[in-house]
Amino acid sequence: MTIAPVQRSTSLGSSAWTDARLILALEEVVEKELDRHLKVAKEWMPHEFVPWSRGRDFPGVLGGEAWEPGDSKVTPLGRVALVVNLLTEDNLPSYHHEIATMFGREGAWGTWVHRWTAEEGRHGIAIRDYLLTTRAVDPDELERARMSHMSEGFASDNAHSMLQSVAYVAFQELATRISHRNTGHYAGCPLADQLLAKIANDENLHMVFYRNLLKAALEIAPDQAMRAIADVVTDFRMPGHGIPGFERAAAQIALGGVYNLRIHLDDVLQPVLRHLKVMEVDGLGPEGLRAQEELGVFLDGLDAQATKFDERQAARLARVAARKQ
Ligand SMILES: [Fe+2]
Ligand SMILES: [Fe+2]
Repeated sequence: MTIAPVQRSTSLGSSAWTDARLILALEEVVEKELDRHLKVAKEWMPHEFVPWSRGRDFPGVLGGEAWEPGDSKVTPLGRVALVVNLLTEDNLPSYHHEIATMFGREGAWGTWVHRWTAEEGRHGIAIRDYLLTTRAVDPDELERARMSHMSEGFASDNAHSMLQSVAYVAFQELATRISHRNTGHYAGCPLADQLLAKIANDENLHMVFYRNLLKAALEIAPDQAMRAIADVVTDFRMPGHGIPGFERAAAQIALGGVYNLRIHLDDVLQPVLRHLKVMEVDGLGPEGLRAQEELGVFLDGLDAQATKFDERQAARLARVAARKQ
């Protein structure tokens, strides 16, 4: 005979928290966070960030001019990062599918899923319009990359767990924010910088939503939430990892200082973990304590790796500077 697990008011036995029960238990928090989000999210117009007057026809139907690398002053690093960011945004139909499947399309969860999708839709529209109007990248290559990337789709690494899904998006939204913001800094175009700052602001609000949800999950199911955080942090992949040529682009993006190990640790993982006081959560059972310890060991290791990256990067920059003298 199976005996049902004993339920405590603050920390239920992990087997008691199914995904369906967690979704139900967090519905009230989603409602509150959605309300807060709608109050702080300001409407903005993607078309206002696109210099339409600089646009020119392309060859084909309109018999316009072919794209040339010299058409735009956007830096080589800016081009690579903008394309990665755009292709990442382009896979929105797959992301929508994943979160709608996990969180549902009903009630407050459903309202959030649709609102979030609408906000994300603006990002791809704005970046594509900007890139094509300013002729910053080869439009044929961009279209082929989009077709190839979207044809692969995106399957969440965390589809088996509601808490892992929430933990992943909390870190991923901040990763996306930092990536857009730093791309803007290095793009060599003040308008791109402004546009990406605007998008980064949206991503930040998305991060706050999921981070607050994760905080509530840590309160109601601390052991399971701690395990989910540890699993997500130790196995994190950027959402655009399936982009054709991603490894090469990611290496350029890392060297250029848009997104690398140090940035991932200091500007993405640590701010969320610190806010949630993950390393100080007490009242954990053996399962939660084990996850917390694993997380601590992993973060120390990542810091050591990031320091090595920093040193190699400093040496590389010194060599480049010496060559220029
Ligand atoms: Fe986005
Ligand atoms: Fe976002």
